[in-house]
Amino acid sequence: MSSTDRVPHNGHPAIHAEQLRRHYRMGETLIRAVDGVTLKVNAGEFVALLGSSGSGKSSVLNLIAGLDRPTSGSVIVQERDLAQLSREELASYRLHTVGMVFQSFNLIASMTLAENVELPMRFAEVDRRERASLAREALARVGLQARMNHRPSELSGGEQQRAALARALINRPQLLLADEPTGNLDSHTGTEIMNMVREFNQQLGMTVVMVTHERALAERYAQRLIFLADGKLVGDESNPAVAAATATDYAGADGERR
Ligand SMILES: Nc1ncnc2c1ncn2[C@@H]1O[C@H](COP(=O)(O)OP(=O)(O)O)[C@@H](O)[C@H]1O
Ligand SMILES: [Mg+2]
Repeated sequence: MSSTDRVPHNGHPAIHAEQLRRHYRMGETLIRAVDGVTLKVNAGEFVALLGSSGSGKSSVLNLIAGLDRPTSGSVIVQERDLAQLSREELASYRLHTVGMVFQSFNLIASMTLAENVELPMRFAEVDRRERASLAREALARVGLQARMNHRPSELSGGEQQRAALARALINRPQLLLADEPTGNLDSHTGTEIMNMVREFNQQLGMTVVMVTHERALAERYAQRLIFLADGKLVGDESNPAVAAATATDYAGADGERR
C-alpha cells in the first residue's frame, strides 16, 4: 500500500458526540438506550466501545453510522452535523464516509461475493468495468480471490466476514464501525479478522470504532477503551500497550517507504 492510500486527516476529531440520547418508548415504558453520551474520537484512532449486553453499544454505533437519529444531542462526524443532513445527504454519508461490519456479516445471500462487494459501488454509480476490477482487488486483499463467484452460504463464517470487510471498505470510508465483528467466529478466525481491521487502521489511517463485550479483545487491539453502562459513559481509558505499539508501527511503515 502506498502513502497516497492513507485517509487525509485535518486535526479535527473524526467523531464528536455531544449529550447524545436515544430513548425508545415501549408502551408505558421509556427505555433510555443512550442517555447523555459525550464522546470524541480522533482521526486515525482505534477505539473499543465496551459494556454488557443492553448497555447501549449498538445504539451509539448506529447513531454514529447515521442509521438512526438521536432523540436529542448531536453527532458530528468529519465536521458534518448528522442532524443537519437531509435523507439524501445521510444516504451519501453512509455510502461514502462510513463502512460497517456486523456480527452476522449481513451479506446478501442471493449474490456472489463479487456482487456483494460491488453493491456499494453500484449505489455510488461507479462505472461497471471499474467496479468489477475494484471488487476483485478488494477481495484479493482479504485473501478471497478464489472465492469471488461463490455465494455466502458456500463460505465459512471467517470468509463471510472477510468479504463483509471488503464490502465495507470498497468506497474508501474514513470510518470503520464494527459491531461485535468476531461475535460469531472461533477465536482463531476472530484473530484473523481483527488483524485485518488493525491493518486497515494502521496502514490506511482509517478511524475504527469497534463494539464488543469482550474486554480481552479490546485490550489486544484498541488504543482506547470506552465503557458504557445503562446508556451512560462510565469509563474512558487509554490502552498504553497498543497505543505505543501503534506509534512504532507507523515509524516502521514510514521507514520502509523511504
Ligand atoms: N429499536 C428498539 N426499540 C426498543 N428498544 C430498543 C431498540 N433497540 C435497542 N433497544 C433497547 O435499548 C437498550 C440498548 O440496546 P443496544 O444498544 O442494542 O445494547 P447493546 O448493543 O449494548 O447490547 C436495550 O435495553 C435494548 O433492549
Ligand atoms: Mg449490540
